[in-house]
Amino acid sequence: MGVITADMRAVIQAAHLCFAATVTPDGLPNLSPKGTIRVWDDDHIFFLDIASPGTRANLEKNAFIEVNVVEQLSRRGYRFFGKATIHRDDDIFREATQRIYGEEGARYPVEALVLIAVERAEEVVSPGYIHTRSEAQMRTAWRLQTFPAHRRFRAASATRRQSSTSSTSSARTGPTTRCSAICRRGTAIRR
Ligand SMILES: Cc1cc2nc3c(=O)[nH]c(=O)nc-3n(C[C@H](O)[C@H](O)[C@H](O)COP(=O)(O)O)c2cc1C
Repeated sequence: MGVITADMRAVIQAAHLCFAATVTPDGLPNLSPKGTIRVWDDDHIFFLDIASPGTRANLEKNAFIEVNVVEQLSRRGYRFFGKATIHRDDDIFREATQRIYGEEGARYPVEALVLIAVERAEEVVSPGYIHTRSEAQMRTAWRLQTFPAHRRFRAASATRRQSSTSSTSSARTGPTTRCSAICRRGTAIRR
C-alpha cells in the first residue's frame, strides 16, 4: 500500500487547492497556491506549473517540497513532504494536462508538470475541534460563520471591479487580465 490513503484523496479532491512550499537558493521560504493539485497514484501527487516561475526555479536547484491541503469547511487536511521532479513534453505531462483540461473544460498553456514523490504525510486538524464535537458540527458552524463574510467579500470585489473599470479603457479587467499577464510572463521566462 502507498503513502496516499483514501481520505487524503478525498481531501485533495474536495479542496482543489494546495499551498506549495519550496526553498530559494538563498535558503528563504517560497509559498504559493496551486489549484491544479491532484493525486497521480498511491505515492505521487502533482500540480501544473501554469504561472509558477519561482516554485519551478527553486525545484530545479532543490527538489524538496512541502504541500499543504486543507478542506475548508471540515477544517482538516494533510501536509505532504517529498521531492519533486519537473516534467515537460513526456507521457506524464501529456496525461496529466489532458486530465485537468478535461476536468476544467478548458485548455491553456502549461509550462511544466510538478510531480511529487510523497515520502511522508501528516494529518493536520484545526484546534477548533477542541470545542467542536464532530465534523458535521464543524461544517455547519463554518457555513454559518463565513456566510456574512462571503457576502461582504462579494460586495468588496464588485467595488474593486468598478474602480478598475473606471480607471482603464480595457474591456477585460480584474483577475482575468492579471492572470493573462502572469501567464505571458511565465511563458516569456521559459524562452
Ligand atoms: C487560487 C489560486 C490557484 C492557483 N493555482 C495555480 C496552479 O495550479 N498552477 C500555477 O502555476 N499557478 C497557480 N496559481 C498562481 C500562482 O500561485 C502565482 O502565480 C504565484 O505567484 C506563483 O508563485 P511562484 O512562482 O513562487 O510559485 C494559483 C493562484 C491562485 C490564487
